[in-house]
Amino acid sequence: MLNVATGAKWVLGNWKMNGRLASNQRLLEALLADPQVNAGHVGLAVPSAYLGQMTHLLAGQALRLGAQCVSHFADDGAYTGEVSAAMLADLGVAFTLVGHSERRQYFAESDDSLSAQIRHAYAQGIMPVVCVGEGLSARETGVQDAVVAGQIAGVAAALAGRDRVMLAYEPVWAIGTGLTASLGQIVAMHEKIRACLLEKLGSSCTISILYGGSVKADNASDILSLSEVDGVLVGGASLDAGQFKNVCYGAAK
Ligand code: PGA
Repeated sequence: MLNVATGAKWVLGNWKMNGRLASNQRLLEALLADPQVNAGHVGLAVPSAYLGQMTHLLAGQALRLGAQCVSHFADDGAYTGEVSAAMLADLGVAFTLVGHSERRQYFAESDDSLSAQIRHAYAQGIMPVVCVGEGLSARETGVQDAVVAGQIAGVAAALAGRDRVMLAYEPVWAIGTGLTASLGQIVAMHEKIRACLLEKLGSSCTISILYGGSVKADNASDILSLSEVDGVLVGGASLDAGQFKNVCYGAAK
């Protein structure tokens, strides 16, 4: 599980389907050498194929290991290609993305599947980072709040009763496009998400809401300076040591 008591804002990288053994090692070594990056509030969600490699490279380090998805099946068995929450825990995984828009789009992940993933992750002591966000047409027609509220409602039962919940607001139109939501758009949506979660989960739950979507070295510190933003989820810029370090420096301010 992620350590909640660092005081700093979260920086979670998402390598998506990128990496090779040699380049992973080079990138990791560059990051681990920097104490502002090799810190408990920083994590990397790597491809399943490289979790084992990362387990070894991150042994004894502060930087946290994450997965990009987890099976909605809990128990070992005949589920070809799947990786269970228990397997992730065995590898020392501290968090997993759940419901990233690319998973929703290409793998048709349903609310039932996402809810099961969330439950299994918590059961194994892994923080599920639940990703929500509207597409371009929803933003253009002004229904983004309803879309995101619907995504939260779809998994609210699986989040109920938890001490700690982590969400990432990632407008789909800002992912990998170079377009970033404006600071005003980020604040407005984060406020709505927090209100929605408070209503559903109650005030005893600690809620962290990250922003994701074309976060880079040059916009990270402005986004991270917003009090409504508890951290960032970084895709493309997490593949470049210099970019990712600079995002982390923005979080430590
Ligand atoms: P991006 O991806 O930073 O490349 O836009 C973010 C994400 O998909 O998590």
